Amino acid sequence: MKPSSSPALAPPVVLVTGAAKRLGREIALALAAGGWQVAVHYRSSAKEALKTVADCARLAGSAAAFGADLADEAAVRGLVARVVAHFGRVHAVVNSASTFEHDSAASFGFASLDKHLHSNTGAAILLAQALHAHVASRQAAGAAPAHAGRCAVVNLLDQKLWNQNPDFFSYTLSKAALEAAGTMLAMALAPQVRVVGVAPGLTLTSHLLTNEQFEARHKLSPLGRSSTPADVAATVKFALENASITGTTLLVDGGQHLMKFERDFSLM
Ligand SMILES: NC(=O)c1ccc[n+]([C@@H]2O[C@H](COP(=O)([O-])OP(=O)(O)OC[C@H]3O[C@@H](n4cnc5c(N)ncnc54)[C@H](OP(=O)(O)O)[C@@H]3O)[C@@H](O)[C@H]2O)c1
Repeated sequence: MKPSSSPALAPPVVLVTGAAKRLGREIALALAAGGWQVAVHYRSSAKEALKTVADCARLAGSAAAFGADLADEAAVRGLVARVVAHFGRVHAVVNSASTFEHDSAASFGFASLDKHLHSNTGAAILLAQALHAHVASRQAAGAAPAHAGRCAVVNLLDQKLWNQNPDFFSYTLSKAALEAAGTMLAMALAPQVRVVGVAPGLTLTSHLLTNEQFEARHKLSPLGRSSTPADVAATVKFALENASITGTTLLVDGGQHLMKFERDFSLM
């Protein structure tokens, strides 16, 4: 659908990476339901991305899909500009896309580290950098500060940073680096852009788990349940809309980070 022609009065715009499927899609839909116009990023899931766009547009009036490989620095550097070219503005980025491939201390190598660091850490930082440059340039040009409190980056982290085990070694390192980057970015990008981490517990299953295994592991928490996709999406929306939060992480995991697991949920 066509974006509004009156940006100063128009709804806020958010770029959600990895929004074709799974948690990214849930986040996109929750934000659209709250009135955000959503730029739906995808890499290979083009068909699913168009479905997310159609569902978001039904809720918010406007949405669009943007393909990019987040391991490709040039593609990442161009992404925010493409969103701005379509919507005329962008207020927020949700870094949900993630590479999640297994390695261990024994199989660790530069190739796996680079792959995870590029897509999970470097891309998220570049998108935050581009968002800040866009917001700052709009302010310098005297653009009306509509939705100024909603200019924010939300980085999807993982409860396992507070409850470490040696599985998914490079993935965990990439998320630990992203958590540290969140602190530095919150300082560097203020006052224009806030930066918040959201750390889910086990929320969605993977090809490594049967449904029964997933159900059993989802219950492994002090609250007897980990997070649902709706819990995570609501927390992302809260983080984007609360103008006082920056430089911190909200754990949404039923308290799983308070427990100790020797292996990743998928390999217990
Ligand atoms: N699911 C959980 O239970 C859970 C638990 C803790 C933390 N988290 C975090 O929550 C976030 C969302 O989780 P999820 O399970 O929904 O993620 P996911 O299914 O593992 O991945 C989401 C999307 O990331 C995209 N992606 C991966 N590598 C990419 C690349 N190089 N360039 C562009 N896109 C890329 C893929 O898009 P395409 O399909 O278009 O290729 C994929 O659909 C992640 O950051 C994850 O670490 C999830």
